[in-house]
Formats: sequence, C-alpha cells, structure tokens
Amino acid sequence: MRRAVVAGLGTYLPETRLTNQDLERFMDTTDEWIVSRTGIRERRLAGPGETASSMGAEASRRALQAAEIKADALDWVICATNTGDTVFPATATRILNRLGRVQAAAFDVQAGCTGFIYGVALGASLIESGVAGRVLVVGTDVLSSIVDWEDRSTAVLFGDGAGAVVLTAGSGTRGVLASYLNADGTGGPLLMMPAGGSAMPASSASIARRQHFLKMSGNDVFRFAVKALPDAVDAVLRRAELGAGDMDLLVPHQANLRIIDAASRRFGLSPEQVVVNIERLGNTSVASIPLALEEAVLDGRAADDRVIVMAAFGAGLTWGATAVRWGR
Ligand code: UT7
Repeated sequence: MRRAVVAGLGTYLPETRLTNQDLERFMDTTDEWIVSRTGIRERRLAGPGETASSMGAEASRRALQAAEIKADALDWVICATNTGDTVFPATATRILNRLGRVQAAAFDVQAGCTGFIYGVALGASLIESGVAGRVLVVGTDVLSSIVDWEDRSTAVLFGDGAGAVVLTAGSGTRGVLASYLNADGTGGPLLMMPAGGSAMPASSASIARRQHFLKMSGNDVFRFAVKALPDAVDAVLRRAELGAGDMDLLVPHQANLRIIDAASRRFGLSPEQVVVNIERLGNTSVASIPLALEEAVLDGRAADDRVIVMAAFGAGLTWGATAVRWGR
C-alpha cells in the first residue's frame, strides 16, 4: 500500500522569551496562577519583521534539509495558520516564494489549533491517492499579533513558533496509518477573532471595541478539550485498527497541562510516553505538534517503527488526530 512517510521535520522558534515574571510586571497576574492553571512558565515572541511566512519558511528549509529534498521537487505546499501574513493571498504562496520561487500547488488550511493535523491528513491523502509525490505541510502562527495584552485571561497562554514536515511516498509499514478530523461549528463563538472578516470589516468602531483580538471563553473550551482530545485519539486508533496499548507515544496539542494530564491518565500512559513542552513554549497553536514532535525526535522517543499519535483541538471548534508509524 502506498503510504505518506515523514521524510523530514523542521522547526523555528523566535529568540525573544517572555517569562511569567515579565508578565507580572505589566499585567495583573502571577507566576503561581499561570503555572498552576496552565503549566506555562515562558513563551517565545516573534521579533520585528518576523511573520507567519518568514517563520514557516525557515521551519520548511530545515524540514527539506532533513528530508534531503530540494524545494523545486515539492508538488504541494499546505500551510496551516490562523495568523497568516495577510487575509489573502495564502501564506503558503509566500512560503513558496521564500523557498526560492519554485512553483507548486499552495494553499492555506484554517482549522484553529487543529490546522497542522488537518494539513497532515490532507497531505497524506494526496500522496496515498497518487495525486502528489512530495508535500510540504507547515504549521506557523504569530499568536502574539492577535493577543489582547490587556486581557489576562488569554494573553498569558500563547506563544509564537513554526514547524514543518515533508511527506513523501513509501510502500512499507512506516508512515501515516490513519487520520481522524472533526468540527462542530456551534462552538465557533467560544474562540474567535470577531473583526477583520466579511462579518465585521475593520472600522474605527471595531478597533475601539478591541474586536481585532483573539477572544476565548476559556472554561468552555477547556471542557470541550478534555473530551475532544481523548476522543480523537480513540477514533484514530480505531481507524488504524490499533488498541490504546499499541500507542508508543502521544504528541498532544500543548494548550494546557491539565488537559494533557487528563488524556494521559485516560490512556494509562507513563510520563515518558507523552511529549510535553508547554512550560517553555506556551500554546503555539498549529506549531505546537511539530515543535513537540521534534523534541521527541531529538531525545530518541520518536524512534523508528514506534506508533506515534498526534492529537489536537481548537477554534471552530475542531479536533482531530493522526497515527504514524515513525520512520521513512
Ligand atoms: O488551543 C486553543 C484552545 N484553548 C485552550 O485549550 C484553553 C482552554 N482553557 C484553559 O486552558 C483554561 O480555561 C484557562 C487556563 C484559560 C483558564 O483556567 P480556568 O481554571 O478555567 O480559570 P477561569 O477562567 O475559570 O478563571 C478563574 C479565575 C477568575 O477569577 P474569579 O472570577 O474566580 O475571581 C479569573 O478572573 O482566575 C482569574 N484569572 C486570572 N488570574 C490571574 C484569569 N486569568 C488570570 C490570570 N492571572 N492570567
């Protein structure tokens, strides 16, 4: 069977660190509150001139290098982002340009923090169906550009970053085994940026009402996520005809340590079987899965033939998971 294998992985993190202690200086919050409610201690912030496409392109260059593939050889570029450089054109086309003026099919996926999982699932189907041979899937977000620094309930949660994978065709047992994607639009108002789209074009009134910033009903999203994350893992394991005991490693979206811990308990996973880096990076949205995955590659937990399940949830509301037998 033709499968999509992860031939290369690359990430990019901006230099600037913003610690909880830094936040305490200009916001009514405490390190104790942030750590106990979320697990986050610091996050990275994009510097001047850094955008979703510049960070995504750097992660892509590293992924292409790891895959030993030239950018001209790519058939498709899929970019998952919620904070693209502009509303249009697609950030994927800018990444393509930054990679050296190659031509390829390029478009963006907008599925909240689940965007990277959506991108990998789409990329894998393009390869499995024979439509494409090499697909670059990028997850890049500059959440700091839409965070309301006057809203302590959201500002402390997010960070910036990017990650990318190059998917190629394989015929062995390694590669993407199954994916599961879902969405429920009734939860849309729980996590959104109200203005700047056709429903509420930019106006001086929308700016005055601070409607160009991310708004979240944290409690409601939390309750949704505690169920959606394990549901997605269950569903993808079923599709891959595997049991929970076959899962070697879980790479969950890094939104809240309590959500990750609840999922780990549900599947009886040991701490070594769950990748967690939220304390250092916060919630980087679509970048959180590839950033966590790279840590697992570097520390040896993502080893050849291990079954890795990546699972996420986010605005939409969306949720989903991908199961991969690691190696190329
Ligand atoms: O990736 C996208 C998906 N997003 C998420 O997964 C986020 C999911 N939600 C969460 O992670 C949690 O709901 C939060 C971390 C956002 C909030 O934690 P919580 O335990 O649900 O807290 P809460 O919203 O119920 O707020 C509890 C209290 C409130 O004070 P009162 O009303 O009880 O007096 C808030 O005003 O904590 C207060 N609070 C803060 N205090 C200090 C809210 N934010 C802060 C803050 N520092 N930064």
